[in-house]
Amino acid sequence: MESNPHGDLAPSSVAGATAPSAPFLAGRTALVTGAASGIGRSCALALAAAGAHVHVVDRAADGARRTAAEIGGSALVVDLADPDAVDTLPEAVDIVVNNAGLQHVAPLHEFPPDRFALIQRVMVEAPFRIIRRTLPHMYREGWGRIVNISSVHGLRASSYKAAYVTAKHALEGLSKVAALEGAPHGVTSNCVNPAFVRTPLAEDQIADQARAHGMAEEEVVRRVMLERTAIKRLIEPEEVAHTVLWLCGPGTGYLTGASLPVDGGWTAR
Ligand SMILES: NC(=O)c1ccc[n+]([C@@H]2O[C@H](COP(=O)([O-])OP(=O)(O)OC[C@H]3O[C@@H](n4cnc5c(N)ncnc54)[C@H](O)[C@@H]3O)[C@@H](O)[C@H]2O)c1
Repeated sequence: MESNPHGDLAPSSVAGATAPSAPFLAGRTALVTGAASGIGRSCALALAAAGAHVHVVDRAADGARRTAAEIGGSALVVDLADPDAVDTLPEAVDIVVNNAGLQHVAPLHEFPPDRFALIQRVMVEAPFRIIRRTLPHMYREGWGRIVNISSVHGLRASSYKAAYVTAKHALEGLSKVAALEGAPHGVTSNCVNPAFVRTPLAEDQIADQARAHGMAEEEVVRRVMLERTAIKRLIEPEEVAHTVLWLCGPGTGYLTGASLPVDGGWTAR
C-alpha cells in the first residue's frame, strides 16, 4: 500500500483499501488515561490488539495493573488532579487518548466549587499538560494521534452538570488548537463524543440523577439518559473504542479538528 511521509494512506490507496491488517500499530506507543475502567480500558485493549505498546494511566492502582497485565502494557498509577504528577508521564508517545473523567451532578446554585475545580484539573488541565508534553516527540516522528474523549456534553448542555459540561466544551477547544498546530507535523487531534455509555461513570449517575430530578432510577434511564437519543440503548465501551482505534489507523490522516458524535442521533436533533 502507498503511504505518504506521515505514514497515512494516499487517497488512491484508500479508495481500494480493505480493512487494515491486525498489527497496524506495531512499533507505536500509546498512552491512555483512565484506562483502569470503562471506555479507557476498552481503548487500551483495542490499541494493544492493533500492536501498540500501551501506557495504562489511572489513579486506581489495582485496575490499572489489571488492564496492563492483560495487554502486556505498563501501568502508571497517577492522580491526574496533581499537575506535578502529570508532568512525570512519558514524553515518547505516538498516540494519546485523553479519557479519564468524573462527574458531579448538582444544581448550579449548589454546585461545590472544589468539585468544579477538580473536574477542570482532571478533564482539562491534565489533557493540556499531556498534549504539551508529548507533542515534541510526535513532531520529531512526523506522526501522532491525539484522541480526546469528549462527550455529547462537549456539544450540548444538560442541567445539573455545570463542571462536566464546562470541562468538555473546554476540551473541544483544546483539541482544535492541537489540530491546527499539529497539522504541519503529521499530528491529528480529534474528539469522540459519546452519549451515555454503559460504564461505572454512567451507572453511578443514575442514582444521583434520580435524586436531582426527583425521579425513580428506571425513569432516569428512560427519560433523562435516552430521551434525546434516537437509538434507545446505552452505548457499549467497545463501540467507543472502535472509533478511537479507527482514528489511529490508516486512512484518517486528513481527519483533524473534528468532533465525532457516537451519540445515537442525539445531536441530529
Ligand atoms: N459513561 C458515559 O456515559 C460517558 C459518556 C460520554 C463521555 N464519557 C467520558 O468518557 C471518559 C471515561 O468515562 P467512563 O464512563 O469510562 O468512566 P469510568 O468511571 O468507568 O472510568 C474513568 C476512569 O478515570 C479514572 N480517573 C478518574 N479521575 C482520575 C484521576 N484524578 N486520576 C487518574 N485517573 C482518574 C478512574 O479511576 C476510572 O478508571 C470520561 O472522560 C467521560 O467523561 C463517558
